[in-house]
Amino acid sequence: MRIIKVDNYNVLSKRAADIIAAQVLLKPSCVLGLATGATPEGTYQELVRRNQEEGLSFSEVKTVNLDEYKGLSRDSNQSYYYYMNQHLFSHVDISKENTHLPDGLAENAQVECEAYEQLMNRLGGIDLQLLGIGRNGHIGFNEPDESFTNTTHTVALTQSTIDANAKYFESEDKMPHFAFTMGIGSIMRARKILLLANGDTKAQILKEALTGPVTPKVPASILQLHPDVTIVADIQALALFDK
Ligand code: PGA
Repeated sequence: MRIIKVDNYNVLSKRAADIIAAQVLLKPSCVLGLATGATPEGTYQELVRRNQEEGLSFSEVKTVNLDEYKGLSRDSNQSYYYYMNQHLFSHVDISKENTHLPDGLAENAQVECEAYEQLMNRLGGIDLQLLGIGRNGHIGFNEPDESFTNTTHTVALTQSTIDANAKYFESEDKMPHFAFTMGIGSIMRARKILLLANGDTKAQILKEALTGPVTPKVPASILQLHPDVTIVADIQALALFDK
């Protein structure tokens, strides 16, 4: 596990974009696993800049996103489909048919989850998976649990996640309380993983996840067992590491 400590969010976004850009240059037809949330917004902004100003091309790249709210349509501006278009896909030369997220309105949740898992297999697996980390240690929407999940599934969001994300919705009761998420197994099968964390709200959980026991109660702790993980984190998120 490599830990890259950076001074601020701006540098974090540039370092993350460097790693993603390197993956795309190395294998132009790579499969990127993508994440949503506040953390990767700057990374996407930097990738858009490199696409528009420096010729970094996404024309052959394929993407699969970690998760999507269950019950939100793709044109709802709180959906992760909307987020991805707003922050990345609409601004770069990627083919929309090469971008994939679970369908929040899928009629049959189980069929949708199985199809998503098959899709990842058909694409040949994920070359580089981008992750944030929830304050409760979730990756994707894999919430603290009694066991690690393997494949894409439906999950009930915990109060910690609802508290963290309710700000994106008019009110808490407008926020879906269920989501589709890749499983821990789906994430761990990625060939490389890049986890981003910034700010002091992530300090405690980052320390627990990276140095504590590997346990499904801290889902991100399983990353300790992955052979190729890079963490890019700012000073605030790494504040408890020297103690
Ligand atoms: P955040 O979310 O980037 O908005 O902090 C991270 C996560 O919940 O995985």
